[in-house]
Amino acid sequence: MKTIIEPFRIKSVEPIKLNTSNERVGILESAFNNLFLINAKDVIIDLLTDSGTGAMSSQQWAGVMLGDESYAGSNSFIFFEKTIKEMMGFKNIIPTHQGRAAERILFSTMVKDGDYIPSNNHFDTTRANVLEVGAHPYDLVCSEAKDFNSSYPFKGNMDIEKLNAFIKDKGVEKIPLIMLTITNNTGGGQPVSMENIRSVSKLAREHKIPFYLDACRFAENAYFIKLNEKGYSNKSIKEIVKETFSYADGCSVSAKKDAIANIGGFLCTNDDNLAKKKKDLLILTEGFPTYGGLSGRDLEAVAYGLKEVIEEDYLQYRIESTKYLGKKLNELGIPIINPPGGHAIYIDAQKFLPHIPIQHFPGQALACQMYIEGGIRTSEIGSLMFGGKDKDGKIFYAQNELVRLAIPRRTYTQSHIDYVIEVMASIKDKSHKIKGLKIIYESRTLRHFTAKLERV
Ligand code: F0G
Repeated sequence: MKTIIEPFRIKSVEPIKLNTSNERVGILESAFNNLFLINAKDVIIDLLTDSGTGAMSSQQWAGVMLGDESYAGSNSFIFFEKTIKEMMGFKNIIPTHQGRAAERILFSTMVKDGDYIPSNNHFDTTRANVLEVGAHPYDLVCSEAKDFNSSYPFKGNMDIEKLNAFIKDKGVEKIPLIMLTITNNTGGGQPVSMENIRSVSKLAREHKIPFYLDACRFAENAYFIKLNEKGYSNKSIKEIVKETFSYADGCSVSAKKDAIANIGGFLCTNDDNLAKKKKDLLILTEGFPTYGGLSGRDLEAVAYGLKEVIEEDYLQYRIESTKYLGKKLNELGIPIINPPGGHAIYIDAQKFLPHIPIQHFPGQALACQMYIEGGIRTSEIGSLMFGGKDKDGKIFYAQNELVRLAIPRRTYTQSHIDYVIEVMASIKDKSHKIKGLKIIYESRTLRHFTAKLERV
C-alpha cells in the first residue's frame, strides 16, 4: 500500500480544549507576546518542541510500574545501562535529568576559560553551557546549509576544511573537544552523513582531540543515512546507529527526543578517568551515578523508548509525516528550509514577512500570528533566541529568522497536521498585515524563554 499509517493505536487520550481567536488575542497580550509564557491548556496544537512531548507506549508505561527505586544499583539502572551500552557501544554511561545537565557536566570537566569548542551548530543550551565556563562556541556547518532551497540531503554536515583550518588557527591545546550535533537542530533538523561523522572523527583522532556527539536525535539521523547515503540502504538502523557512535569518544543525549521519554538524559564516555570526574560532579548536583536525578521508572521509560525509536516502521512514519507537512507548505508557497528535517519544519520568516525588519523579530511575529489564527504554538529560532548584546553593549542578530514547527513523537494524527496546513494557508493570505515586535524585558542568558515583547 502507498499510504503510510501511524504504526500504533491510541489507548489513552488527552482532550484538547478549543478556544476562539478573540480569546487568544487576550491570552497572548497577557503573556507579552512570548509563547513560553502562555498556559498549555490555551494551546490547540502544541508544536513548541518535540522534547519530552512524545506519547509513551504501553511497554514504556509497563516499565514505569517496574521501576526499581533503590538509591544505589537499581535493576532499572542496570537495564538502562545495558540498553545504551549495547546500542551505542560506550564504556561509561552516566544518567542525568536531561540533556543540558549532561552538557554542563561535559563542559565543566573538560573545558576551561578561553578554550574553543567547534560544532556544526551548537544548540542554544550547548552554546550557553560552553559560554558559562568561559569558552567560545563556534559553528562550522557546511555551506550547503545556508541555501534553504538546495536539495542536498546532509545539510547538517560539518565543513571539514573549515574545521581543519580552525584547529590550525586556534591550536590543538585550546580545543579540548569537538562536537557534532545529530541531527542539526539549529540548522533546520538536518542530518549529518556517516561519511562526515567519519571525517570529523578522523581529524579529531589525528590531533588527539576528543570527539563528542550531541546525539538527541540519533535515530532520525540514522534513518536519513539509510534513505540517502550510498551503501546504507540495506543496513539495519541498529547497525547504522552502532557505526555512528563507533567514531565518537562519547556523547551527550537528551532522552526527551529520540528516547521518547518525558524526562531524562545521559552522558557517555570511553575515558575511564574522565568518567570518574564526571560522576563526582554528578553526585554533587544530580544524584548518585545509578540514578543521576532520575527515578527508576524514568530509567525504564528511557530504555524501552530507545528500543522502540530504532524500529523502522516507526522511523518511516516519523520522517514521512514531517515531510508531508513540508510538502504542503511548499505547495502553498510558504518558504521553508528544504529538504524537511526529521523532527520539525522551519519556516523562513524573513522571506515570508519581508516587510518586518529583523530588529522587529519577524520570526516571533509569525509565531504569535500562528497562535492567534489557529491556537498553534511554535518557537522562534531567530534573533530573539540567538541575538542579544555583546560585552560592549552592541546589539547583534541571528543569521536566520526561522519559526520551528516541531512535531512531538506519536502525539498528533494527520488531521491535526492538516489543520496546521489550513491555518498557514489562511495566514499567507494576510501575511502583509502582520506587525513586528520589540523587547521590553530580557534576561542575561537564554532570553527567549522569559522575554516580554510588545507590538511596534
Ligand atoms: N542538544 C540539542 C540538539 C537539543 O535539541 C536539545 C534540546 C538539547 C541539547 C538539550 O536537551 O532540553 O533535555 O536539556 N532541545 C529542545 C528543543 C529543548 O526544543 O529543541 P534538554
